[in-house]
Amino acid sequence: MSATPERAASGSRKGRVCVVGSFNVDHVWRVAALPQPGATLAGEYRSGPGGKGFNQAMAARRAGAETSFVCALGGDPGAQLARALCSADGIDLRDTECALPTGTAGIYVDLQGRNSIVVGAGANALLGADFVATTLASIAGIDVVLVQLESPIDAVQEALRLGRQCGALTILNPAPANATIGGAQLELADILTPNETEFAALLGRHVGERIDPDDVGSLDQGRLHALCRQLGHDSTVIVTLGASGCFVSHPEKQLRGDSIPYCRVPAETVRVTDTTGAGDAFNGALAASLAGQPQLPFNQHVRFASRYAGLSTEREGAALAMPTRTELNARFNPE
Ligand SMILES: Nc1ncnc2c1ncn2[C@@H]1O[C@H](COP(=O)(O)OP(=O)(O)O)[C@@H](O)[C@H]1O
Ligand SMILES: [Mg+2]
Repeated sequence: MSATPERAASGSRKGRVCVVGSFNVDHVWRVAALPQPGATLAGEYRSGPGGKGFNQAMAARRAGAETSFVCALGGDPGAQLARALCSADGIDLRDTECALPTGTAGIYVDLQGRNSIVVGAGANALLGADFVATTLASIAGIDVVLVQLESPIDAVQEALRLGRQCGALTILNPAPANATIGGAQLELADILTPNETEFAALLGRHVGERIDPDDVGSLDQGRLHALCRQLGHDSTVIVTLGASGCFVSHPEKQLRGDSIPYCRVPAETVRVTDTTGAGDAFNGALAASLAGQPQLPFNQHVRFASRYAGLSTEREGAALAMPTRTELNARFNPE
């Protein structure tokens, strides 16, 4: 009998994921309309942790992996928040303390759910390749290295290079879409996980194909696979498509246990409250599943990640909305 997606990350060993990336303190205001220049508005305020790196580390941890999180923080209350949260969830935090403030994001969200965001990278911009190298070398038994593009490209590249060197699987989530990245980084990724906007941006820059992000999900599957192959060469590419699920494309010579080179995986039917961080949930859960049960066919890891990300959209927020395995099982496999 094949393992169910829930069992995918729950095998006898947990596996270790190492996330290298950003930590931000998010300041969020809910407003009736996004502010115009010169306007002063009243809004409902909340603040909490964010940053793609931290969100993904939380997802990996709560999805069941031993998780290390490598990041740069300031010497300020934001750093204390990061330490307290990592300690509460059992994340092995490996931070370097920098002379800039901990990263921040100012976010306005209107009644339609549209947002305007300003990111102050702060300390995240000082995450150094040397620090990443010495830190990764000091963590034993890394199964999966997971990176995004909210950190300096040298640090991202070093994480991928060392991941490869120590025999770990490397996952590059090429987000946000406006970050630039070189062919060298793409080649170091075993798995690439763009959403449709990031995929269109990468195709434009690296393959010379102009495609509207809104059209990606409706492309013919053979065509989508061909585009993934042009982008990823030797990498497995997963294009995430929000409520339309995702598309998986493998190189012909590396099917990762699947029987076919490409397929669509539908999203779960969920009661969506807030899709912020869905991609982060997906990446963290995928990494945890691959680290815990590497012998399973790849599509089972994708189904697990998809279910995990779907559940994360039922709660408001990002890092703190990441479900635990117990919650995942209760939601999809009630006794
Ligand atoms: N509305 C939704 N319903 C069900 N699952 C969703 C929904 N939105 C996102 N997901 C899940 O989360 C994954 C990542 O979401 P996506 O929007 O593609 O990423 P991002 O947050 O990077 O834009 C999807 O592939 C899907 O599995
Ligand atoms: Mg999306």
